[in-house]
Formats: sequence, structure tokens, C-alpha cells
Amino acid sequence: MPSTITKSALLLSMLLGLSQAQASSEPSPAALASRSGIPHPAVIAHRGASFDAPESTAAAYKLARDLGADYLELDLQRSKDGVLFALHDNDLQRTSDVASKFPERKDSPANAFTMAELKTLDAGSWFNSAYPDRARASYVGLKILTLDEIIDIAQGNSLHKPGLYIETKEPKQFPGIEHDLKKKLQDRGWLSPAGSKLAKSELAVGQGKGKVILQTFEKSSLELLQKEMPQVPKILLLWVAEGSIEPESKVSFAESGEHDKAAYYAKQHPKDKAEFQRWVDYAKTQGAIGTGPSAALTHGGDQSYSDLVQPWMNQYTHEQGLLVHVYTIDDAVDYQKVMDAGVDGIFTNRASELLKFYKRPAAASVTQVLQNNGY
Ligand code: G3P
Ligand code: CA
Repeated sequence: MPSTITKSALLLSMLLGLSQAQASSEPSPAALASRSGIPHPAVIAHRGASFDAPESTAAAYKLARDLGADYLELDLQRSKDGVLFALHDNDLQRTSDVASKFPERKDSPANAFTMAELKTLDAGSWFNSAYPDRARASYVGLKILTLDEIIDIAQGNSLHKPGLYIETKEPKQFPGIEHDLKKKLQDRGWLSPAGSKLAKSELAVGQGKGKVILQTFEKSSLELLQKEMPQVPKILLLWVAEGSIEPESKVSFAESGEHDKAAYYAKQHPKDKAEFQRWVDYAKTQGAIGTGPSAALTHGGDQSYSDLVQPWMNQYTHEQGLLVHVYTIDDAVDYQKVMDAGVDGIFTNRASELLKFYKRPAAASVTQVLQNNGY
């Protein structure tokens, strides 16, 4: 039977037109984030500040750190000789000069190369060709980074220490990577309990209890991450595709007749409401503290996917006591849209812009920070 207080809250909520969940004593999303030591809303620098510098390189991660991003995001892979490193794609063609250095192996997956081989590649020049308006001579010859090197960068600014937001990328290709990651984080002191004073400091995300967030699209990897590092916050990434949230329509991009992938994805929806809810429920059951859904971007582009941050979706996720960190958004119009829809943090390639949007502008411009770091 509801207590007098609960009855009063319900009555008040009916008078104010609020839902039962909003009127209940459930912790707010901000309180949920604070409990895990996660800033709210969170600025997650996707592959570093990768709009302004080559993704997943020292230039991009140092820029994101010094602008004041809360997290450095990375896609984790393992080299042929067992070294953990950061790279988004399965192979090296888009973001390196593998075709000229190893022509006969250019189509091979990145994990078919030793770390010494990966280190011979130029991971910066492609950016200058792809984005001449943002090109810098200093980007030529940038290297693929090991996880150790990214940890060094995260720890390298005495005034601002971002956390790490680590995705196990295609984890089925890397059996045991969850255990390897645990060992590395443990060795580097990133799994030790945080001092309560530091955890409360806005500048100390990278020293508080939310200093690492683990993320994956793969259910099996989420389960392994939970087994290896039960105390570390985890996010289940969501999108509409085979092997993930089941789509309403099974028509592939090729069959759809669409010329634009973003337009195709924008029309992809979960099979039904229950299918979306099942994935959120699964995340909760497996100990995740939230979900990382895709978004449809106003101006399209290759990071525009299905809209999985509709208000009802975020509300349902919050009602389960979970947070929502949406990927990957770069424009103010979309920052506003997803914040209005109720998300709790944003993956962005443009950390400088998102920090401005959240009224936490960086003390220096992108150009100044790049120059300070020697780029
Ligand atoms: O990790 C969140 C977001 O990065 C997922 O998409 O493909 O950029 O790794 P992707
Ligand atoms: Ca990622």
C-alpha cells in the first residue's frame, strides 16, 4: 500500500501533469551519474578531438585533454604480438599509408601487424588530404598509439585529467582482450579506488571513480567486461542492425535504392518498442550503468544512424536507472535536439564546440592548444 508521502507525491504529479516515474523517489539521471563519478552532462572526445586533428593520434588526444573534455574515447584492438592499441577501422587503409608501406598486405586487418610494424605507418597525412582546410604540416608522420601512450596523455596535464572511455572493438577478433585490458588498467593504477576528495572535483574525472568507462556493442564482451572489472562503469552501445537491435525492415542499404547511407539509416527503426526495451533491460541485467545509442544527424554524413534517442527511449532508459550517452554529434542544432530529448552525455568529434554549448568553454582556442602542443 502506498505511504502517505507517496500518495501525496502521486497526487501532486497528477496535478502538475508529471509521470509517475518523475514523481517517484528514483534518483535523477544527474544523481545516477554522480554516484558513478561521471560528469553530467559528459563531454566524450570521440577518437580524441578528431574534427581538428587526425583521429586516435597524440595530436587529437592532447587537444581534447587540454580543451577540457571529460573523456578520451578510443577503440581498442590488439596487435599480432599482443600490444593493445587504438584504431577504429578493421584495416589500416583509410587512416594510414599502409598501401605504400605494405602494398601486398594493405587489405589485411590491423591485428595482422606487429606493433613495431604499426609504428612505421604515417597516421596523419591522410587527414591533410581529406581535410585540406584543417591540414597541418605537423600532422605528417603521426603514429598509431598504444593504450599505454594514451594513458600517458590522459595523465599528462597537471591541471586537467580526463578519463578514458574504452570500446572493445570487434571483440570476437580478440579473444581475451577484456582480461588484457583489465591487466593493463590494473598495472597503470587505473583500477584502484579513488580518493573521495578527488572524485568530487570537476577537474579530476581521470582520478575519480568514473575515470574509466568501458563500452561495447557486443553482448558477450559486456559480460566479459563485467566479469573482469565489475566495479568499472559500463555502457552497452546500441544501433539498429543485424546482431544488434532488430530492424523493422530487413532491406539492406544495397537493396534499398538509397544513395545516401545517412538517409537509409534514418529510416531504420527498431522492430518494435519491446525490441528497444529488451536491449535496455539486457544492459541493466548485465550491470551496465547506461546505454550508448546512435543518433540521426540533421546534416547527415557518415556518422548519422538511426534515431535511438527519442524522448520515450531516453525516458524508458532513465526509468531503469540507466544513463544515456549518445554518439556521435558535432553540430549545435543536434546538441540541442538530443539534450532536449534527455541524454546525459555526448560523444563528439568537436570537443571544443560541445564544451562551448555546455557553457564550459576552453580557456584557449583549438589553434592555440595545438600550437602549445607543438602541432
Ligand atoms: O563508441 C561510440 C561510438 O564511437 C560508436 O561508434 O563506430 O565510432 O566506434 P564508432
Ligand atoms: Ca568507438
